[in-house]
Amino acid sequence: MRTHYCGELKEINIDKFVTLCGWVHSYRNLSKIIFLNMRDWSGIIQITFLEENKKLFKVAKKLKNEFCIQVFGIVKRRNLKNINKSIKTGFIEVLVKKLTIINASQPIPIDNSKINSEDISLKYRYLELRKLELLKKLKIRSKTILLIHKYMQSKKFMQIETPILTKITPEGARNYLIPSRIHKKKFYALPQSPQLFKQLLMISGIDKYYQITKCFRDEDLRSDRQPEFSQIDIEAAFISEQKIQKIVENLISFIWLKIKNITFEKIKKITFTQSIKDYGTDKPDLRNPMKLFDLKDLLQEVENLDFIKKNIESTKKTRIAAICVPNGIVLKEKKIKVLKEELKKKYGFYELITILVKEKKLSENYDFDCSILKNYTKKKIILKIIKKINAKSKDLIIIVIGISKTVNNVLNKLRMEIGIKLNLVNPNEFKPVWITDFPMFKKEKDGKLCCLHHPFTQPKNSNIETMKRKPETIISKSYDLVINGYEIAGGSVRNHNFEVQKTIFKLIGISEKEQLEKFGFFLESLTYGAPIHAGIALGLDRIIMLLTNSNSIRDTIAFPKTTSAICPMTNSPDYISNDMLKEIL
Ligand code: AMO
Repeated sequence: MRTHYCGELKEINIDKFVTLCGWVHSYRNLSKIIFLNMRDWSGIIQITFLEENKKLFKVAKKLKNEFCIQVFGIVKRRNLKNINKSIKTGFIEVLVKKLTIINASQPIPIDNSKINSEDISLKYRYLELRKLELLKKLKIRSKTILLIHKYMQSKKFMQIETPILTKITPEGARNYLIPSRIHKKKFYALPQSPQLFKQLLMISGIDKYYQITKCFRDEDLRSDRQPEFSQIDIEAAFISEQKIQKIVENLISFIWLKIKNITFEKIKKITFTQSIKDYGTDKPDLRNPMKLFDLKDLLQEVENLDFIKKNIESTKKTRIAAICVPNGIVLKEKKIKVLKEELKKKYGFYELITILVKEKKLSENYDFDCSILKNYTKKKIILKIIKKINAKSKDLIIIVIGISKTVNNVLNKLRMEIGIKLNLVNPNEFKPVWITDFPMFKKEKDGKLCCLHHPFTQPKNSNIETMKRKPETIISKSYDLVINGYEIAGGSVRNHNFEVQKTIFKLIGISEKEQLEKFGFFLESLTYGAPIHAGIALGLDRIIMLLTNSNSIRDTIAFPKTTSAICPMTNSPDYISNDMLKEIL
């Protein structure tokens, strides 16, 4: 049906006859000559119809955008002045001798030359996928999947599929449920991850497991979250966390080298506590040079200021920390005010003070503007702050005071927003980092303990007694891989000891009865000689998002859902008929 792809025609094809199939991408009728860009999945080529071939010209005049066509013609070099440098084949064109209209097209309901609203673009996703830049992302996804299999197989990991119709899994989100027709009132759950199955495979003696699999989570969506997404799931027996991390580091390096031609240096490791201290987040974007400076010791008096007393309960843990924006003098006061208000709405009350270092004078003295100097006149302290932070002339110090969690969130957001605005972050750079040693538990608002990773994670250097006595002090053998502020992977060493596993369940409030009902099969498996094992899962969609410089994982999935978890194309989720309902309930 065709001899070549449009985007792959080259110098060697000049003066040769070719047959192409594809779509009319754009159309220009200059009355004596018709030019059109023809597109297939490989790219675009200009094709030309001359008036002298009357019969053909008459048919060509009927063409419109998105008509599906087949052409037979000769490849010609374009005149120098007609070369189009914006397309790969811009130096040649095909002079058409024969045209077949395979199928006409209505004017398509989306404009692929711009960004359409989410609802309309996903309703016509099959037409949006005609965009070459989206197609390119899917090609990178396909190539990356191949590379993953190649790497994992070369390291003797065995690919094993695990069930999709299964039981509720505790990964922190809600499960999607599927009613059973045969067993009335009973439900399967779609897996949030294959966590328990991969651990069971280790108990079976499968030494090294991996699969690229779909996971399903009913949670609030964001640009890096979809209700169904893909994980590269990995587990191995008799292995340490360092070894698993090394395997993932090599896998990631292999992918980035093959797709982006980028070599990573040895990946840095930061503990969770250090990451919160330095960046206010456990997902730091290390491309951004700004770090947090703690100022509580210097600003004890500020902590006692009225606005703090009035707005923060004395029982809450507070933090006073700052970032220093290099050359922050260029930031408009209004921009900071807008950001401050936006972040207040999102994270709750906090106070923000700015110090603009205007000029460094001799003998450790500075000229500065402080946003609260009117009511706060301790100039000496401000000089101490400037010195501690080692701020330079024209730098802007932003101090945030409030409940620790709020201060961390606010400073992290400010760091990122300002970093991008002032070009402190290189969009073409990749900075991976391991975040390790997460606390095993955290206290929920209602006082209950929950696991920071999942409950199958092994506590570090602790026995059951200390776990029971001081659960909040326990650190877990867990690790996340973060690249440019995105959590790309999360994993841990697992509990292979029955008693430890039961203690963790108990501490997070799962009663004996519930343990039996929900995880009885798994707890029992730990009594049959379970090996030491550890693993990790990487978010494939997030990896492709980074590799393709996309702003959302939506761009990396052929048929994604909207931010409210619907598919406007198939109109799902949808109601079902009463008859069907009766059958399953
Ligand atoms: P975790 O829940 O951290 O760990 O998930 C692993 C990785 O999956 C990706 N991810 C998502 N990607 C897109 N949309 C989502 N809704 C979404 N949720 C998670 C992230 C994340 O780092 N069973 C454990 C892994 C283990 O311990 O081995 C787990 O699923 O990139």
